[in-house]
Amino acid sequence: MKNEKILVLDFGGQYNQLIARRVRELHVYCEVHPHTMPLEAIKEMNPIGIIFTGGPNSVYASDAARYDREILQLGIPVLGICYGAQLMAYLMGGRVETAPVSEYGRTEVAVEGDSALFKGISANTVCWMSHTDYISEVPRGAAITAHTPVCPIAAFEIARENLYAVQFHPEVMHTVEGTKLLSNFVLDICHAACDWQMDSFIEDTVAKLKVKIGDGKALCALSGGVDSSVAAVLLSKAIGKNLTCVFVDHGLLRKNESEEVEAVFGEKGHYDLNFIRVDASESFLKKLAGVTDPEAKRKIIGEEFIRVFEAEAKKIGAVDFLVQGTIYPDVIESGLGKSAVIKSHHNVGGLPDYVDFKEIVEPLRLLFKDEVRKVGSALGIPEHLVRRQPFPGPGLGIRIIGEVTREKIKIVQDADYIYREEVARAGADKELGQYFAALTNMRSVGVMGDGRTYDYAIALRAVLTSDFMTAEAAQLPWEVLAKVTNRIVNEVPGVNRVLYDCTTKPPATIEFE
Ligand code: XMP
Repeated sequence: MKNEKILVLDFGGQYNQLIARRVRELHVYCEVHPHTMPLEAIKEMNPIGIIFTGGPNSVYASDAARYDREILQLGIPVLGICYGAQLMAYLMGGRVETAPVSEYGRTEVAVEGDSALFKGISANTVCWMSHTDYISEVPRGAAITAHTPVCPIAAFEIARENLYAVQFHPEVMHTVEGTKLLSNFVLDICHAACDWQMDSFIEDTVAKLKVKIGDGKALCALSGGVDSSVAAVLLSKAIGKNLTCVFVDHGLLRKNESEEVEAVFGEKGHYDLNFIRVDASESFLKKLAGVTDPEAKRKIIGEEFIRVFEAEAKKIGAVDFLVQGTIYPDVIESGLGKSAVIKSHHNVGGLPDYVDFKEIVEPLRLLFKDEVRKVGSALGIPEHLVRRQPFPGPGLGIRIIGEVTREKIKIVQDADYIYREEVARAGADKELGQYFAALTNMRSVGVMGDGRTYDYAIALRAVLTSDFMTAEAAQLPWEVLAKVTNRIVNEVPGVNRVLYDCTTKPPATIEFE
C-alpha cells in the first residue's frame, strides 16, 4: 500500500473535518493541520494533494489567515475551497472583493469548459454557497470553470500547474455532485491509489501512540460506550499492560451491561490491559437518596463519578497519560462557546481534577461516530458494543423521573430489556436513532386478576434523528408495541401501564430529564 496522504490546511472554516472525512471515504488518508504548519513540515509530509479550507476572514483583513505563495509552487495539486479559493486567487495575483450580495445556501451553478475537476458533473447543478467576498478577477493564465448568478467566478483553475479553486463547498451534502468533484480531485488530479482502510488508521495510530507513550503509563475511564471502548483497545494494542482501565459501575447501567463490559475487557476478555471494575452503586444511591430535581441528580452523578474515579486513580499512583475517548463532534460542540444550559451533560470519562497525569491522549479526536464504529469493528470489538446506541453518562438516573431507588432501577432495567429485545427481534431497530424505556413517576390504578393495583407507568421512547439536536418520534409497528406492553405488564412487577411517547424534540428532549 502506498503511504499517500492528503493534507487539509485549515484556515478556520467550519467544515474542515468534514472535508477530511469525505476524503477518507474515498479511501485516501487525510489529516487536517492548521494554516500555521510550516512549509518545511508540509514538504516532509509529502502529501499527494493539498486542500485549502474555507475561513471566516477576508483575504485583505490584517488578521487574515494566509499562506506563503510558495506552497502553490511545490508541484503538489491544490484545491482551494471558499476562502481557500479566494486565497489562491489573491496569492496568484487575482482580485477578491465584497460581493454585491452574499450568497448563502443552495445555489444553481453552471459549469464551463471541460475541466478535469468537473468531469462527469452536470452542466447545471446545485452547490452550497456561504460567502460575502468573491473572486472578481482570476489570476493570469487561469480559466474560469463555473459561475453562479452572483459569482462570475464560482470556480477557476490553472490546470497545467494542478491548481483548482471552487467558491462553493463540495464537502457539504447539499452540493449535489460534491463527492464527485472531490473524487475527481483525489483520483484524477492527485492520482491517489485509494487503498486506505480503517486498518491503516489503526496501524498508524498504534505506531504513533507507541512513540508518544513509550514506557509511560496510561489511565482510561472505561464506560462501555463505543468511544471509550475503542480508545481503550487502541491503547492496549500500543502499550498493553501499561494501560489501566477503570470501569466505574454506578449501578445505573442497563440490564446485564456491567457484566458485558467486564466480559469483554476483564481478565477473561480478549485484551492485554489492566481492568478494574469498581462497584460503586451503593455510594451513588446514597448520594441520590431523596433527590428529585433533574439537574441536581445529573450533578450528583457526574461529581460522584469523578470522585470514585479519582479514588481509584490515587491507588494506582501517578500516570503519564489520561486517555479520553473524545471524538470530533465533541470537539466542535465544546468549541461552540456559551449557549444556554439545557442539561448539564456528563460524559463518563469527563476530566477529573485531582488525577495525577501529565498529558491527555485522545486517539479518536479526528473521527466521526460512524468512523469510530468502523475502527471498533476492524479492531474486533464485539458488535453489541460497537453498535451500541448512545447512552447518557448519568445512565438510568435520568430515565427514572423523580427519586432514584434500587427498586426503580430494577423496574426500568427489566422493562427496557424487554423493549429492546422485542424491537430488535422485529427488525424495527435499524432506522432508530435511540430507543429506550423510562420510568415515569406516575402511579395509577389497574386491575390484575381479581385485585386492584396501584403501580407505575413505563414510558417507551423511540426517535428518528440524524444529529440528536432534533428528533421525531418513530412510528413503531403497533404489533411490536402491543407485544412489548403485554410482556412488560406481565413480566415486570410494579408496572401496570405502558405509554408511548409521541413527542418531537423540540419541545421535548430525547431523555426524560
Ligand atoms: P437530550 O435528552 O438532550 O439528548 O435530547 C440528546 C442526546 O444526548 C444524550 N445525552 C447525554 N449523553 N451525557 C451524555 O454522554 C449526558 O449527560 C447526556 N444527556 C443526554 C442522549 O442520550 C441523546 O442521545
